[in-house]
Formats: sequence, C-alpha cells, structure tokens
Amino acid sequence: MQEALTVQRVVHGTTAAQELDGSDQSMFVTVFLLLVTVCAQGGNGEEREEAQRPGHVSVVIVGGTGDLAKKYLWQGFFELYINQVRGGNTFSFYGGGLSPADKGRPALSEILKAVSCTKDLSQERCALLKEQFLRLSQYRQLKDLEDYQDLAKHIEQELQQEGLTEAGRLFYLSVPAFAYADIAEKINSSCRPTGGAWLRVVLEKPFGHDFRSAQVLASQLGSSLKDQEMYRIDHYLGKQVVAKILPFRVENRKFLDPIWNRHHIERVEIVLKETLDVKGRIPFYDQYGVVRDVLQNHLTEVMTLLTMRLPMNLSSSEEVLQNKLQIFTSLLPVGKNQAVVGQYQAYKTEVQQELNKTKDHFSPTPTFAAVLAYVDEAQYEGVPILLISGKMLDERVGYARILFKNDVFCVQNHNNIHCKPKQIVFHFGHGSLRYPAILVSKNLFKPVLMDGEWKEVTEHTDVNILGLPISDYYVQTPTEQKEAYSELISHIFAGRKNSFVSTENLLASWGFWTPLLSSLVSSFPRIYPGGAENGDLLDVRVKGKDISYNSEVVIISNDQMGGTSANSFQVMQGKFRSADMVTAWPEELVERLAADIQEAAEAAVHQGGVFHLALSGGSSPLALFHRLTQHHFSFPWKNTHVWMVDERCVPLNELESNFHNLHEHLLQHVRIPYYNIHPMPVQINQRLCVEEDGGPLLYEKEFSKLVNGSSFHFVLLGVGHDSHTASLFPGGKVDEHGESLVALTESPIKPHQRMSLTFSAINKAHTVAILVMGKGKHELITQLSRVKDNPDKWPVTGVKPAHGRLVWYIDYDALLG
Ligand code: BG6
Repeated sequence: MQEALTVQRVVHGTTAAQELDGSDQSMFVTVFLLLVTVCAQGGNGEEREEAQRPGHVSVVIVGGTGDLAKKYLWQGFFELYINQVRGGNTFSFYGGGLSPADKGRPALSEILKAVSCTKDLSQERCALLKEQFLRLSQYRQLKDLEDYQDLAKHIEQELQQEGLTEAGRLFYLSVPAFAYADIAEKINSSCRPTGGAWLRVVLEKPFGHDFRSAQVLASQLGSSLKDQEMYRIDHYLGKQVVAKILPFRVENRKFLDPIWNRHHIERVEIVLKETLDVKGRIPFYDQYGVVRDVLQNHLTEVMTLLTMRLPMNLSSSEEVLQNKLQIFTSLLPVGKNQAVVGQYQAYKTEVQQELNKTKDHFSPTPTFAAVLAYVDEAQYEGVPILLISGKMLDERVGYARILFKNDVFCVQNHNNIHCKPKQIVFHFGHGSLRYPAILVSKNLFKPVLMDGEWKEVTEHTDVNILGLPISDYYVQTPTEQKEAYSELISHIFAGRKNSFVSTENLLASWGFWTPLLSSLVSSFPRIYPGGAENGDLLDVRVKGKDISYNSEVVIISNDQMGGTSANSFQVMQGKFRSADMVTAWPEELVERLAADIQEAAEAAVHQGGVFHLALSGGSSPLALFHRLTQHHFSFPWKNTHVWMVDERCVPLNELESNFHNLHEHLLQHVRIPYYNIHPMPVQINQRLCVEEDGGPLLYEKEFSKLVNGSSFHFVLLGVGHDSHTASLFPGGKVDEHGESLVALTESPIKPHQRMSLTFSAINKAHTVAILVMGKGKHELITQLSRVKDNPDKWPVTGVKPAHGRLVWYIDYDALLG
C-alpha cells in the first residue's frame, strides 16, 4: 500500500440568511420560470446518461479524511471497487485534503483499515480485495491550483505508464459548500480528462440556504462544470425504500391507478423523527434549522416521488427529473398558517455555549416543523400532504404514509380488517420495525413483489406500525440492507442521474420553500422539552388549509422565564401584574379562552343551573365570538345569560353598537333563548343615554334581580391603547361612581357617550378575563408591566376582583412584540 497522509478537517462555514422582500419574491419567480424554461430546453439530449466504456477510473475524494468520508464514502467506494473490478475497469483512489502529506497519510490509513466486505464474499477473497484497494488508495494534498495540476499530471503519467485507457474521473467534494465554486474552478482548469473520458463531480448539501443563494451557487458552479457533470447528492434518494417508491407505483399500477387520487386518499404524511439533538453542529445548524436541513431536501424529494406523474420509462433520468419538476410547478404556495415550528428546550443553552452568546440570547431557529402542502392538480386537489421533522423527539423513524379513506363501518366486529386504517407505508428505517420495508395494509391489495432483491416478510414479531399490527400488512423488505451512500456511489459510477438533484429541480424546491422561510422569520417556535416528555405538545391539527398545534394550552417554560435546567420544563402559565397570565399564538389563545369560558359555564350550570356572562365590545373579542360559535352544540347556551360590559350610546341596530356586533358574530349563531339576552338600555324614550331616563339604574336592577349577589360568573374585558377597559377611560373619576354598578361615561373618541359596568360590578365577578391581542398592544403591555395601580391614569389597573380571579390572556404578539 502506498503511504497515506492526513488532511486537516475543513470546518463547516456559515452563510448569513438573506431574506426576500416582496419585490425580490416576484423577481425570483420570474427568474425561476426563465431558468426552468432555459433548462428544459437546454436539457434536451445533454442530460442523457453517458455511455459507459470500461477503462481506468480515478476517484478523488476531496475532504477524504473528513467525517462523511470516514463514515460512508470510503466504504462506499470499496464496495464499488468490489462490484466493478470484474467488469473490466481499473481504479485509483485519492483522498485529498488541505494538510501536507505527513499529516494526511496516517489519518487516511486509519480510515481505510476500517472498510469491510459485503456479506457474500469468502474471507480470502475479501482480504485480497481489501489489500488491493488499500494499495490503490493514496493521500494527496489538494490546496492550491498547483496541487490539482500535479494530481492531473500524476493521473496522466499513470495512465501512460500502465498503458490504460481512461474511462473517467470522479471528484467527490466532501467539503463545506463555500469551497465548491473554487474547487470546481480548479478541477475545470486543470483536471479535465481528455479523449472522451467522463468527468463527474459530486456535491453534498447544503446547496444554498434560499432561492437566491442557491441560484448564485448554481451559476458559479455552472461556469466551471456542465450540468451533466454535476451529481448533487440527497442521501435519501439512496435509501432503498425511497429508491423503490417509483418502481412500486409502476409495478402496482393496476391496484393504484383507481385509488391514487383525491377521492380515495385521505392524507399523505412524510415524517422524519429523530431523537438526537444538534449539539456540536450549532454553528451550522443555527443558520439552517430543520426546514432547510431536512424538509427542503429529503422530505421534498419523497413528496415529489409520491405525487409526480409516472414516467413512461423509469430508467430515463431525463423523464424522471422532468416529471419531478412538473410537480414543483403544481405545488400551491405555503402560507404562514400552513406551518408550525418548535424548538427543543435545551437548544437555547447549546446556542449560547457554542456561539458564545449571553444568557439572554434566544435564537428562533426551529428544530421541529410540521408543514402542510397541497398539489394544485385535479388528481390531488384538497389532499393534505404533511411534512414533519424534528430533533429530540421520542423515537428515530422515517416513513411516508398514504392513508386512504375508509367508508366501511363494522357494526359488530371492529377487529375486522375492513374497518381498520387502509394505508401504504414506505418505512425508510429505524422505528419499532427496525428494518426498511414497504407495507400495504391487507384491506387494500396484495402488492407485486419487488425485483429479485426484495423478499416478503411473513413471520412477524409483535409490533404495531402506525395503528395496525404488522400482521395486518403485506410486508416486503430488501434481502440485503445497503447504505444509501454505497447505493448512490454505484449510481454515480453508472451515470444514473435520476437519483440526484438537478439544477432546475433544486431551484424549484427553493422556489417553493423560500417564501415560507421568509414568513417564518418572525415566528416564535413552541418550546418542547425533548423525548417522551413532549407528550402531545407537538401534535398538530389540520383545519381546512391551515395547520396548528392541537393542544390549546399555553406553554411558558421555566426556561423562557429565566430557568436553565433541561428538566425544568413544565406546562405553566405565567404571571402578569401579579395575576395569572395565559399566553399563546392568537388562535391558540382564543381557543383556550373559549374553552375556559365553557368550563366556567359548565361549572356554574352544574352548581346553580345558570351561567351569567358579561361580554365587552371592540375588535379583540370577535375572534373569540367566532370560536364560541363552534361550541354551538356543547356549550350550555340554554342556561347562559349574556350581559354587556359596556355599550356605545347609539341605537342597537347600528354598526357601532357593541350589541350589534355581539349579535352579528355570536348570538345569531347559537341557540340561546331570547329572554337570556340582556342588551344595555341606551335608548329610552326615543333618546340616547339621557341621565334622567335612568338607563344605568334599570340595567343594574335587572342584573341585581337575576344575578346572585350581582356577581357575574365571567366578565370578559379588553384594554385600549390608553389602557381604558369596559368604558372606563383615563381621567374618568371612577370614585364618582360610588357603589353604582352601572354608569354613564365619556369616551375621548366617538361616539363619546357610553354606558359601562363600573369597577364595583366588575370586581364582584367570579372570574374576570382581560384579552389583549396584536403587536399594536405590545407597548401598552410593556408599560402596564411596570406601572403601579392607578385606575384614574391606567383604568385597567382598577380591575381587582374582590373574591374572584383575574386572568390576563395575552397573545405572543402583544407580549413579545
Ligand atoms: C441530514 C441532516 O441530511 O439527514 C441531519 O443534515 C439528519 O440533520 C440526517 O439527521 C437524517 O438522515 P438519516 O439517514 O439518519 O435519516
């Protein structure tokens, strides 16, 4: 064996994320469409697989002593050598690195010792092949242009001396992406083979961090390399099950054709769950996050394989890549409401440590994401496609599941297979099954067995896969498990481009993801504790075209409140002005408030047969009213009395009337008896809010008569920018209301005259909720968090239930701005 040298590991570089503003987005759509057209035209013929002629192949792994090379690449090339040595090819292998030979050689030598033979070889044959492989492998310093020129000279001399015909040169760039353009240039200027031999350059992700940076990188590479010379790796395309998605769809066409559509598919889930954290990778990861790291590439590739039009010829790379591109153009844009993001709790501390940040530094990079995609094609219209991935989850597993609708209802025997979920699961690996497999539930069809390298599994352990015992599936698995990298290396050697990411497909994928990434910049991830403790915290719900977290509860971790221990995570509500606070994203907050009101209603009805609810006007409660209308059937509307917290002195049927709003948005949609509805009497004697008509007293009498102790069960308040609440405004001399429960008040804004519950009435309530939503209220919330009680100046500070409970419901926008 020739001596091997060490390479210094090149550290992953980071690139600052550039976000698109609106004009950039439209620009990139235009550029993207142009590019797609140009590529589609230029791709003709050029993209075709190169004919293989046997001869000498030089393999150069740039970054040959790095982690990836050590873990997968040398093993993959050894397997290639074993498989190809009989096919008339000869090889030399070079591990390239920045370090001088005396450092690089020993490191490479260590790595090479670890390569092993595939199962079906005898010990002697294995030893012989390994010895040959080691002899053919050497370290070379590859730093400057001269190093590349020397390498080229060396290859040519070797060819001449041995009298070999050259088949091709394969450069595997296992280095950070920032080095690609420079290395590609050096290869182009000094290492191109002549005489019809091929050049292939293999690249690893990341290929940019958004559309624009991917485009820049693609054009830099394009100035040195032809498209057909570039092999962009997505190792998921080398996973045995992923690689079989298209052949499976083709082979089982007769079963799938009638059901592979919106009429039969309930939803598609593409999931990669991981248990590990990203400790040690933060400088890279914090710039990328889970969407760029996993969804944009691995999960998107799987999605396209599941939804693309089947090619006439599976082995035509051109057709496969073209059909993939087609599906990208049919993907509907993903809006902010179609994604939820999370971050494991310890991430914050890891970032602080690895990036040398202070204790109050918070990075919003998501380590968990669930995204809802739709394909705008008649075949898949309305079929939700969920892409989910996260670190620090309960198990390591990857799969794509196609869940079909089931219209069979078993009256007696629920264990009958016909009533169980109908699904196809492409199980990439790990999980409770532990091996890669394609599973088809027995109530669907018996799939055709994949080619000779797959076998049916009929003896099962007691394991459950996505809601079905494994015995309820037809299961097939590869006869021999192979590493994705080894598979892809053999495809590179064969020039099979359909297992790689073409420039136009890469840009199409970034074109799909970039707008979402831009809109997520302002999203605050839900913090999760990690592992089994996550419970149902990350469960999502699909409603219409939106996705949201299923649990309505607001989660503020101790960590966010200043704690640091990984175990300190618990579901808790914060405190605001010494009272309880619930905080969440607006939708969740409103859901939670609605649920709390319902709980109070049920308790009151259970105890006394009646629930008295006083509601405010303004725009904040509208979302709550809409939410409450969905509690149409379960809420005890029949036993609920609705009162007004305040009213504007306008006729009740006018748009400005709080009652009018309440009626429009809630009352007319629920079954509440008319005699349980109590608008404020602002109009008496055909005039509005005239003192001597005694409207306030009338209202006070009405509720004193019906409401036990004049204590409403639940009072919902809002708070204005000037901190007014109900219709109690700054400088309103609240003392003058004395013991009155209802008063006429003055607003600084029109309509000026108001009728309002007083603090005496409000503070008698069992529960008072103050709902504050929207960024516009952030400044107010910040001020309120600091000021002392002073109802004259800050009316809302006068809310102090004497015997009841005060809860602030503040959304993240208002709380965090
Ligand atoms: C890589 C990501 O591409 O894929 C990692 O960078 C992730 O963050 C990995 O862990 C998952 O691959 P696999 O093969 O373990 O599912």
